[in-house]
Amino acid sequence: MIPTITYKLGNDLDLDAVIDLYVASTLGERRPVDSRECMAQMMAHANLVVTAWDGDLLVGISRTLTDFCYIAYLADLAVRQSHQKQGIGKELIRRTQAALGPRARIILLAAPAAQDYYPHIGFTQHPRAWTLGPGERVQG
Ligand SMILES: CC(C)(COP(=O)(O)OP(=O)(O)OC[C@H]1O[C@@H](n2cnc3c(N)ncnc32)[C@H](O)[C@@H]1OP(=O)(O)O)[C@@H](O)C(=O)NCCC(=O)NCCS
Repeated sequence: MIPTITYKLGNDLDLDAVIDLYVASTLGERRPVDSRECMAQMMAHANLVVTAWDGDLLVGISRTLTDFCYIAYLADLAVRQSHQKQGIGKELIRRTQAALGPRARIILLAAPAAQDYYPHIGFTQHPRAWTLGPGERVQG
């Protein structure tokens, strides 16, 4: 039976439950779940967080840093493996977009496991996206 999922806005979340979700979604393999301090900062400084709940169980998260007007960096999207492919990821993004102003654009970096997901649900690939990684320096 497909469970009834409820959604909440806000980053006031139990850190252990958040880390458990990242691990249970597999996104934990690509996020610093070994550092509670870093995970706590990631939650504290995200200013648009939508979560999905199956009763008291945290089953999904969309974590975004945004100015609410122009740009929104969707840093993490994760759904517990037991609850994937039930539309929760799409609904988390819909609710993230609904919290933004009409001119705001969502940008993100896809994890390898999700690179086919975003085109499937309507995202456009950007050919001029660039990153400066930890330890990399501005040249010249
Ligand atoms: C990627 C992820 C967030 C998707 O969430 P989800 O709730 O399972 O996805 P949805 O139910 O919203 O899926 C919507 C559609 O995309 C498809 N889809 C789901 N995951 C997919 C994937 N990894 N690749 C391609 N298509 C995918 C679904 O089959 C569904 O298709 P349909 O509408 O034609 O039936 C989730 O699988 C996850 O947490 N993955 C591990 C962590 C991760 O990689 N996160 C992304 C970080 S950038």
